[in-house]
Amino acid sequence: MSWSPDKTKVNSWNEWDPLKHIIVGRADGGCIPPPEPALDAKVPEESDMRGMFGPRPQHTVDAANEQLDSFVSILKKRGIRVDRPDPLDFNQPTATPDWQTETMFGCMPPRDVLLTIGSEILEATMSYRCRWFEYLCYRPLLQRFYNEDPAMRHEAAPKPRLTDADYRSDYLSDRIGVEKRLQWTADKFFVTTDEEPLFDAADVLRMGRDLVVQHGFTTNLKGIDWLARHFPDHRVRAVNFPGDPYPIHIDATFTPLRPGLIINNPQRRLPEEQRDYFLRNDWEIVDAAPPAHQIPPPLCYSSVWLSMNVLVLDPKTVCVEASEVYQMEQLDKLGFEVIPVPFRDAYAFGGGLHCATGDVYREGDCQDYFPKQ
Ligand code: ALA
Repeated sequence: MSWSPDKTKVNSWNEWDPLKHIIVGRADGGCIPPPEPALDAKVPEESDMRGMFGPRPQHTVDAANEQLDSFVSILKKRGIRVDRPDPLDFNQPTATPDWQTETMFGCMPPRDVLLTIGSEILEATMSYRCRWFEYLCYRPLLQRFYNEDPAMRHEAAPKPRLTDADYRSDYLSDRIGVEKRLQWTADKFFVTTDEEPLFDAADVLRMGRDLVVQHGFTTNLKGIDWLARHFPDHRVRAVNFPGDPYPIHIDATFTPLRPGLIINNPQRRLPEEQRDYFLRNDWEIVDAAPPAHQIPPPLCYSSVWLSMNVLVLDPKTVCVEASEVYQMEQLDKLGFEVIPVPFRDAYAFGGGLHCATGDVYREGDCQDYFPKQ
C-alpha cells in the first residue's frame, strides 16, 4: 500500500507502526464543564477544579496552543502529515430532549473521540454530556478524508441518551474518600451503569486483531459488547485496573510500545488472571518508570501518570513529555530513540501526547500478535 502526504489514506491498526498522518487537537476555547454525574466522579476529590466551571483563562489557552503547535512542527519535520480540528464555541449551552449543560469541553484530545481501526474512523458514544457534541469539531476533517479516500469508512456509534439512569447516584458525593473509591473500582462498581452502550475511544488500545478495552468510568460492558459486535473480525478483550480511583482512558495506565512490549502503571497493575493472555503470547509487561512530578499542573483532570501517555512514531521512536526524565530514561534503556516534547502546559486541556492525537495513517496491516488463544 503506497502512501503520499498529498493523497489521503485512512489506515491504522495498532499503536506503534510507522506514523505518517495524524490529527493533533487545539486548545482554543477549552472550558471546565459544569458539574454532571460522570464528570464529577472523575474530578479528584482534592482537585482545584472542584466547583469551578466556564472558559479556561486565555493565557493558559495560549500556552497550551504554543506547545501543541511546536509538537506539530516536530511531527512535520519528521515527514508526518498533521491535520487539526475546527474548534466550536465551547462556552455555550447544549441540550438534547433528555438533559442540558451550560458548556462543552474542547477539542484538544481527539484520541478520546475518534477510534481508527484499519480504514474506519469511528466516533465514540462518549459518556459525558458536555462532550456529546464534540465530534462536530472533527466532522470537517472526516468529511474531507471521506471525500478524498474512497476506501475510508466513516462511522458513528449510536448516540447515547445519557439520562440519569446511565450513572450510579452513589458517586454523586464529592466526599466518598479514596479508600472507598479503590474498593468500588476493584469491584468494578463504576459510575456508569449498563443502561446503554457507552465508550470513549481512549479506552481502546489497538493491537492488530486484538482490541484491548478498559472497563471503567467512561466505558461500560455494553459499550465493549457493542465494539465486539461492530468489529466482528477482531478479538475484543475487556481489562480493568484496580488501584485507579478514577479509571478513565487506558493510555496513562497500559501503554504498548512495540510488538511484545507494554509498560503498565505500577499503581494500577493488570490483575494476574488478565496478564496471562499477554504472557502466553510472549508479551512482556514492565512497570512504567515513576512520573517526574508529584502533582498535576493547575486545573488538570488527569493524574501525574500522563508521564506514560507517550506517542509512538514507529517501533524504535517515541515522543515523551520533555520534563519526564525517568520515563525518557526508561524508554532510552528499552532501546528507543526518545524525542522530548514540552507539553505540560497543554495537559489541563485533555491530557498528554497520546490523548492530544488521533491516528489517520500508519504503515502496515492487521496482524495477529496473540496467536496462542
Ligand atoms: N486516566 C488518565 C490519568 O491517569 C488520563 O489521569
